[in-house]
Amino acid sequence: MESLREAARVLRNAGRVSVLTGAGISAESGVPTFRGPGGLWENYRPEELATPEAFARDPALVWRWYNWRRGLIARCRPNPAHMALVELEKAKGEGFTLITQNVDGLHEAAGSRRILELHGNIWRVRCTACGVRYTERSLELPAPPSCRECGGLVRPDVVWFGEALDPQVLAKAWEAAQDAEVMLVIGTSAVVHPAASLVPAAKAAGAFVIELNLEPTAHSELVDISIRGKAGELLPGIVAAK
Ligand code: OAD
Repeated sequence: MESLREAARVLRNAGRVSVLTGAGISAESGVPTFRGPGGLWENYRPEELATPEAFARDPALVWRWYNWRRGLIARCRPNPAHMALVELEKAKGEGFTLITQNVDGLHEAAGSRRILELHGNIWRVRCTACGVRYTERSLELPAPPSCRECGGLVRPDVVWFGEALDPQVLAKAWEAAQDAEVMLVIGTSAVVHPAASLVPAAKAAGAFVIELNLEPTAHSELVDISIRGKAGELLPGIVAAK
């Protein structure tokens, strides 16, 4: 396919590459996407559970959902698309930035290092009383768990609907988007802001933007190349092409 060859050529010649990933890159690992099939838990939509209001109303319910998701993600392994981004990072070095909306930790598990986690990480918790953050990998957490430091109520250290992103992480993501010669946008429906705004920002700053998604998205018209297909099947070839 011509667009695959063109994407590979552009990527190979670029010094500074920023990548934005969404739930679609983890779909082939078995993590359900938010807006696709399997994204519902006990008939709740993520928008009904991933909010500070839902947590204030019923922390046990929200934790039962997170415990379900943590158990599901614990069984998932990085797929060839995650691995391809590790190779891309090796090739580009400091010119590479991986911006992810995913909280599943699969990029890190694959071996990526220059990662900006815009929406936090499901394996970290944060105490609502003393503010301490720590990694908690136990799959046997009570719903809700208590802080190991002060006994207070802990929450997942992720960004919920209606909450602000970490300003430092967001600032670095803007910088990476605006500095990029090429931006690769993989497996995101491009509806949740500010993450989605990074794509037009990169384009406006002069980046060549390549989208890889199963379906057309709100960005497909704006990008330079829009490739339809599965990330795990197509990305390794795009990254490895000589
Ligand atoms: P979505 O579930 O909205 O979108 C997943 C996208 O991946 C869709 O556009 C699919 O077409 C595409 N897709 C699915 N399988 C794919 C595959 N194998 N290869 C390539 N593309 C594939 O997930 P996000 O865009 O990540 O926010 O959602 C953005 C944010 O909304 C999430 O980070 C989360 C969510 O609610 C928070 O939790 C704050």
